[in-house]
Amino acid sequence: MQSGPGAPAPAHVIEGLEGVVAAASRICFVDGLEGRLLYQGYDIHDLAAHGTFEEVAYLLWHGELPTRPQLDALRRDLAAARALPEPVATLVAAAPRDALPIDVLRTAVSALGLHDPEARDNSRPANLRKAVRLTAQIATIVAAIDRVRTGQTPVAPDPGLGHAANFLAMLWGRRPDETSVRAVDVALILHADHELNASTFSARVTAATLSDMHSAITSALGTLKGPLHGGANEAVMRILLQIGEPSRAVPTIREMLAAGKKIPGFGHRVYKTEDPRATHLRRMSEELGRRTGQLKWFEISRAIEQFMLQEKRLHCNVDFYSASCYYALGIPLDLFTPLFAVSRISGWTAHVLEQLADNRLIRPRAEYVGPRNRTYVPLEKR
Ligand SMILES: CC(C)(COP(=O)(O)OP(=O)(O)OC[C@H]1O[C@@H](n2cnc3c(N)ncnc32)[C@H](O)[C@@H]1OP(=O)(O)O)[C@@H](O)C(=O)NCCC(=O)NCCS
Repeated sequence: MQSGPGAPAPAHVIEGLEGVVAAASRICFVDGLEGRLLYQGYDIHDLAAHGTFEEVAYLLWHGELPTRPQLDALRRDLAAARALPEPVATLVAAAPRDALPIDVLRTAVSALGLHDPEARDNSRPANLRKAVRLTAQIATIVAAIDRVRTGQTPVAPDPGLGHAANFLAMLWGRRPDETSVRAVDVALILHADHELNASTFSARVTAATLSDMHSAITSALGTLKGPLHGGANEAVMRILLQIGEPSRAVPTIREMLAAGKKIPGFGHRVYKTEDPRATHLRRMSEELGRRTGQLKWFEISRAIEQFMLQEKRLHCNVDFYSASCYYALGIPLDLFTPLFAVSRISGWTAHVLEQLADNRLIRPRAEYVGPRNRTYVPLEKR
């Protein structure tokens, strides 16, 4: 049997763990054939139409939508937790100006663990409080990263604003308009959780060693960064900009496919039909494009989507239309993936809580395909 690097894996090896069911979870249901997504039993379409990110975060953590007093308490707790510990704010300010924001975020979240008053308490109540703190702090970090690298002072959080509005206010340094706030709120709802995606799995693997919440989230952020996962939204926008005009969309994508390239924002391990999150993001991309008078990014996206469906039978995923939505909102490209984390922190922390509620170490096996029976050769004889 061929066994060098790049050799095909033995047939019983499940590459990429495709189709492997590695946890029983109550948090999120994905039906890849019907294109359905439920958070704790609630359809994403219902939540996107009527809910807020804060309600969804509560739902993911507690399994129920909050009552009015519970929601008010969560909003107060989030607002109270937004300010960063001074050493973490200093660390963000000291990052190289050209550092990738997702790398600064990952490093800052790891540093938050050094300053969290309950860092070593792995109990459920402490981890719930850390989930709230991390959700509040990650939004502050992402906004601060952009402020300091553009030579501006970070904006203090506004306790009177909800999560999405406060994030935009900290990013822009002005009170955001209602349309932008609702667009970000819906984007946060749509990105909040997605079952055992790569970064969530990563968080659960770390949590399952009985490490700690901040370590689990640091692992997740490192995993989210890659262009096959959360990094795809930025890659999509770079291609839309490179294409520039709707008439160039199909020829460019045709060339990329002919060169054997994958098109960011298409394909999915689980969805074999329309990703229900894309349904909302497509509509939002069109609406936001019209509002800014820059409909062409939506038009280019639509042309690519139709071509990919016809040519490759591939549907777009959550990252495809989120790119043109964020661009229309004036979010810098390299903040797209950190913005994903501003939302997904709710799902990551919910999964850490669930993992710890009934924990078992996650430790699969590898099929050894390397050589055996080799004898040590002294250095001078090699
Ligand atoms: C999401 C993704 C990583 C899933 O990967 P996967 O389940 O391992 O699927 P594969 O990469 O094995 O793809 C299966 C087939 O579809 C093709 N395919 C998948 N995604 C494609 C894409 N975006 N563009 C072109 N072809 C694609 C593959 O080339 C492969 O074809 P083949 O069987 O002829 O070799 C993959 O679709 C991808 O790389 N997409 C682009 C990145 C992206 O948008 N990521 C965000 C996901 S939410």
